[in-house]
Parts: sequence; structure tokens; C-alpha cells
Amino acid sequence: VLEGKCPFGGNTIGGAETSKPTLSDWYPDRLRVEQLHADGPAANPLRDFDYEAAFTAIDLEALKSEIKAFLTTSVSWWPSDYGNYGPQMIRMAWHSAGTYRIADGRGGAGQALQRFAPISSWWDNGNTDKSRRLLWPIKKKYGNALSWADLMILAGNCSLEIMGFPTYGFGGGRRDAWEADDATYWGAEWIDNTSPESYDAMVDRSKRWTGQPGDADYELEQPLAASHQALIYVNPEGPNQEGDPAASAVDIRITFGRMAMNDEETVALIAGGHAFGKSHGKVPSEEIGAPPDIAPIEAMGLGWHNPRGAGNGENTMTNGIEGSWTQNPTQWDNTYLENLFGFEWEKTQSPAGALQWTPVDPDAPKTPDAHIEGRSEPLMMMTSDIALKVDPVYREICQRFLSDFDYFTEQFSKAWFKLTHRDMGPKARYLGPEVPADDFSWQDPLPAADGPALGDSDIAALKQAIEASGLSVSDLAYTAFSSAVTFRISDKRGGANGARLALAPQKDWAVNARTVDVVAALRGIAESSPTPVSLADVIVLGGCVAVEKAAAAAGVTVTVPFTPGRVDATQDQTDPQQFAWLAPVVDGFRNYVLPDYHSVSSVAPERMFLDRAALLDLSAPQWVALTGGLRVLGCNHDGSSTGVFTDRVGTLSTDFFDAVTSMDYVWNPVAGSDGASGPTAFTVDDRDTGETRFQASRNDLLFGSNSQLRAVAEVYAGSDGQERFVHDFVAVWDKVMMSDRYDVVKG
Ligand code: HEM
Repeated sequence: VLEGKCPFGGNTIGGAETSKPTLSDWYPDRLRVEQLHADGPAANPLRDFDYEAAFTAIDLEALKSEIKAFLTTSVSWWPSDYGNYGPQMIRMAWHSAGTYRIADGRGGAGQALQRFAPISSWWDNGNTDKSRRLLWPIKKKYGNALSWADLMILAGNCSLEIMGFPTYGFGGGRRDAWEADDATYWGAEWIDNTSPESYDAMVDRSKRWTGQPGDADYELEQPLAASHQALIYVNPEGPNQEGDPAASAVDIRITFGRMAMNDEETVALIAGGHAFGKSHGKVPSEEIGAPPDIAPIEAMGLGWHNPRGAGNGENTMTNGIEGSWTQNPTQWDNTYLENLFGFEWEKTQSPAGALQWTPVDPDAPKTPDAHIEGRSEPLMMMTSDIALKVDPVYREICQRFLSDFDYFTEQFSKAWFKLTHRDMGPKARYLGPEVPADDFSWQDPLPAADGPALGDSDIAALKQAIEASGLSVSDLAYTAFSSAVTFRISDKRGGANGARLALAPQKDWAVNARTVDVVAALRGIAESSPTPVSLADVIVLGGCVAVEKAAAAAGVTVTVPFTPGRVDATQDQTDPQQFAWLAPVVDGFRNYVLPDYHSVSSVAPERMFLDRAALLDLSAPQWVALTGGLRVLGCNHDGSSTGVFTDRVGTLSTDFFDAVTSMDYVWNPVAGSDGASGPTAFTVDDRDTGETRFQASRNDLLFGSNSQLRAVAEVYAGSDGQERFVHDFVAVWDKVMMSDRYDVVKG
């Protein structure tokens, strides 16, 4: 350390912005509100770029031909196995999509997050950096018209096709992220990526699993969908690396289930995927270098340096298991299942020391060496492959696939399409000529809009009818908001379009009980409209009426934007199981916390509220404005006055912000309201007289206690805040109502 005057002008040594300690080192439990602004417009060099237009202009057939031609070439810095890059591209695409989990909709192929930490450096993504780098010349040629996220999936499809597999289709439209995602929860345990041998120490599952496979209480922490941090799904060597195929099957079912795959889809994917390529395990993991994010600077973003030979080709080391599942790893055929069931398999060790399985029969067919002409190798299975033979349900599915190859092909084709498109949301987001015409239930389909578009006079008449209905501002706003708040930007599911608020399961959620009568009344209005209108539109229009009235009561005249064209989904188009995942655990907007939450969860509800705000794609100012507005509109799920810091409910006032920033009150925990993360109920008492003025929850106090949120609350509480607040509230209200309108705004 240099002493005295710094020789570098203004820059002091050790004062670089990223030096430790950061705020999170000092205060590890602080609410990281700044996460709402991650991957924001400032990070995006293409924020004004029309990706839809650019992608649609690509000649997809020509692009695919180029990818296919490239796949069967080989470059010297990373020679292809069997002269075909297809298998490694399929694995890259699968790993890109396979991070998806249905609980919060995060993960998935949609933003090419495989390019960034932490996913880029996960052990399971070993050498996917090479696959992406191999594709760079094609990415470079097509430039911004072809996102990485689309290219990675398309390369997977092209790979399958050149090896004789009929893919089901391809939808483009994935927009890349531009920075690492630091907000997704991937689990509390950490595999130290600086030390590759720590992969072998992946035995401490206690932080995300309760019990052991076979125990009645065996469960994986939500929302996680991988058996261990840094893996895509399960450890190929079985839980605890013990080589127990039955226990592996238990983990596979749980983790693939979290990816929203049923047993048949799961078998189709694993048996289908492992018809291709090989595993790489020639070198002990201790010899392998650091992953991309912490590799030496001269590695220029590539990781896992392998010191043996040229570090590639016949010396390639990726996972540690060695060998191929089939005799012809570059051809779509049924030999994976034929081998799995045709032979007895025994445990052996790879050259890198990993546990794997080899046919007992020495006369079993061999598989060609991936690089050395004329040499052949024994077949290989992983513990997670043997699991498909051992588990009775998987076994039955395998046997059907074994006896009906066409059926297997069709199921794998559909499952691959689902895997790679699952996180894209509504079909309206898919681009290009290869989008299949079919609707799948996992796409949350909507009927096509028909009938004339609503004109201004229709809208005015509907608004009048809503006003005349006598429905209160609170009820109208609550219902419109409830119809829209299910949206999540992660996998683009939920939202007001479809009026699924009126269908099972949403109509039966306790948090929506307040909407049932309102929806019935609004349905009556929709049905008596001379111009056909969807219930979904009338619900949203009801919100517009409410907000305009509330703003007027606060002395600000506004028109809340309304974009008609929503449609009503049918119950058939609404899979209750898939929608059950959208039910809120904590929805601070409506001051809702799942009954029992406080006794079972040690995660403070305001953290879950932040998560909800993130899934609604709100910024901190939007979150503050929306919550403060909903409170004074009287939008608590139970109609209670908790957090409703106003004496004029239904007026879009700044009273909520006045209260949370005021020193006239003291905020006292209610005795006996303790939950796992502290008191859950508070009284807001007059500092001088001690008189209780209001009740409050943690989700109310948050806006006065958190410094970033309080800073915004002060903007609205200021003497010049009222008009700004109304405008900001209307803007975020409209944003929420429009969040799922991919039929209008592509995104
Ligand atoms: C390769 C594990 C599911 C496609 C591998 C490798 C492992 C593995 C350890 C070797 C990586 C290497 O060393 O190069 C698993 C496990 C799965 C699973 C534990 C789930 C239980 C899938 C699925 C697909 C797939 C669902 C695609 C649909 C592939 C392909 C390869 C591969 C194509 C060969 C890559 C190459 O040749 O470079 N898998 N996998 N796998 N996997 Fe999987």
C-alpha cells in the first residue's frame, strides 16, 4: 500500500468501487431494494432496438443451414467429438433452458443468462463456454438481429435435426440480459468455484434438503429445482454421490417436477438427450482450472483450463464421468433404451475417478472413440440413467418408448419444445416461421380476439354503466388489481388478460374472495354491452373508473389509459395445477400474508414483498407509489384498515406517505404478534397522547423504515407531492394492467 500522497490524481488506491467491504458485507441482511433496477435500461446497449423487426427479417432457413454446416466442421482450438458439435450444443441449450423453475418462474433460456455469473461458472456448465464461443462467428454475422438466447436454442434444434431428430418447432423472441443476475435465489449452500475439487464435496445437501431420499419428510427447499447449487438438475452420481439409482430417481422426480415436467416428459428428455454425445472425464478435477468468472484475465473469459495435452479432444474433461451411452452418438435412434434395458450394468470408475456404470457383459457393443480413429470404448451409463430402469414408474414409461420408437420420438419432440419455450410466456411472444400452430396448456393459451374493437363511445358507455353500478372505488380497484397482479416478468405468466380471476383456481383463492361479487356485477355489465366486450376488459376498465374518481377526489383530474382488446380464457385453457403456482404467499400490495406464514417461514414477509415487486417488474419508485395508492384506495384483501393511514378512503391522497414519514407517531409492536421474523402487527400511536391512530403490518412499515423506499415516500409526502403522486400512480397502474399485453406491446 502506498503511503502519503496518492500518485494517481483523484483515484485513491484501495478505493475502487468494487473493493470489499461492500454494503452487503457490512449488512448481509439488508433488503436489497436496488435489485429492482438490475439489468435496467442503462445496462442495455440495445434499449432502442426493435428486436422483433430485426429477428423477423432474418431468413431463418438460411440461418439454420449455416448453423448446420458449421456443426459438422471442426476447429483446432476445440475439435468436435465424432466430427459433430451437435451433442455439445444440445447440452448447452438444455442447460440454458433447464434452470427454469415453476415456483417463481425464474431461470430458463429466455435471457441467455448462461453468459453471466453465477450460471456461467457453475460446475454443471463446464465447457458450455466453449460451445458459445464456437457459435460466435454466426452470432457476429447476424449481429443484434439474433440474440444469444435465441441462437443457443436454435443451435440445439439444428443439432437435433442434423442427427435425424424431428423437432417440433422454434419460436424466436428471447431478449438477452446485459448483466449478471444477482437476485435469483439459487440456494444457501455454496460450492467454492475457486476449487474444482469442491465438486467432490457436494455432499452437504442439508441447506436445501430436509431428510434423505426415502424419508417421509424428504423435500427440496422452494423455489429451488436443482438437487444442489451449481447443478442444472441432479448429481449424475446420485444423491450424496452414492451411486444409488432408486434414490436418484426420487431426486429426478422432484427436480424435473419443479421444472413443470411430468414423469413421461422427464423420461423422454433424459432418454432422448442421452441418445447423443458423450460425457467427458479423462482428467481428475483437481487439475482443472478456475471457471470463467474467476479465471486468469488472459483466459479472456474461458474457464476450466485443462493442462493435459492440448486440453481438449481426447483429453477433454467436463463432468468427470467418461463415455457414451450409445454405439452411434450422432444419430437419433433407440439404442439408449435398448442398451439400458438390454444389459446388466455394474459400477465402475472413470479415469477422473467418478462413479459410473459399465455393461457387465464383456461382449456388449462398444462405442467409437470420439477422436481416435479405429479405437472403441465401453458403453457408459450414469447413476441418473440407471434410475430410469429402477424406478417402477419410469421403467414402465421406458418400456413403452422402447417398444414404440415413433411414440418416443413424438414425446421427446414435444417435451424438448416445452423445455426450450416454457419460460417465454404467451405464444404472442413467439417470432418466426417455425412457430407450431398447436396450443399447449403450458402456454396458458388465450382465445383469438374476435368482434369489432371497442370504440371511444363504447368505452364511455361502459364507464357510465360501471359508475352507475354502485360498486365502490375500493372494490373496483381491488378487483382490477387482483386480476393483474398475478403477472410475473420471469416467465411472463399471469396478468389480467383472459380474466382468469374468474376461473379456477384463482376465483377460489382466499386473497380473491373480495372480488367474487364484484366480478359477478362486472360480468353483468359486460353481457349487457351492445358492443361485445370481454369480462377481462371490463374488470380493467372498472379499475380505470375507480382511479379516475379517486384522483378527482384528491383534486387532480386524470384519464387513466385504457387499451381494450383483452379476451376471456375458458376453464379448459386454464390448467389449475399450473396456475396454483401463481397463488401469492405474501402480497404486500393487498396486505396479504398466507395464514400460518409467520409461524412457518423465517423469511421476513417484506422480503417476499420485494420479490413480488421484482416479479411485477417494478422500480423502487413504482413500488412505493403503487403501494401507497392501493392503501388509500382501501385495497386490503380483507377490507381491514391495516396500513390504511387515512380518514378519507377512496381519495388518491398522499396520506400514506405523510404517515410513514411523520414524527408525530410512534410505531409499537402489538404484544403477542411475534412471528419467526419478528413482530408482525403494530399500532401507530400519537407520540404525545399515546392514542392509537392506525394499525400496521410489516409491509406498511417497510416504506418508512427502509432508507431507499423512505426516500421515495418523502418525494410524495412533500408539499409538492400530490400531483406527482397521482401521475406516477396512474403510470404504474397502467403498467401493471398492460404487463401481459404481448398482443399489443412486444417485449
Ligand atoms: C451430457 C447429466 C439430462 C442432454 C451429460 C453429462 C452429464 C449429464 C454429467 C456429461 C457432460 C460432460 O462431461 O460433457 C445429466 C443428468 C440429467 C441429464 C444428471 C438429468 C437427470 C439431460 C437432458 C438432456 C441432456 C434432459 C437433453 C434433453 C445431454 C447431451 C449430452 C449430455 C446431449 C452430451 C454432451 C456432449 O456430448 O458434449 N449429461 N443429463 N441431458 N447430456 Fe445430460
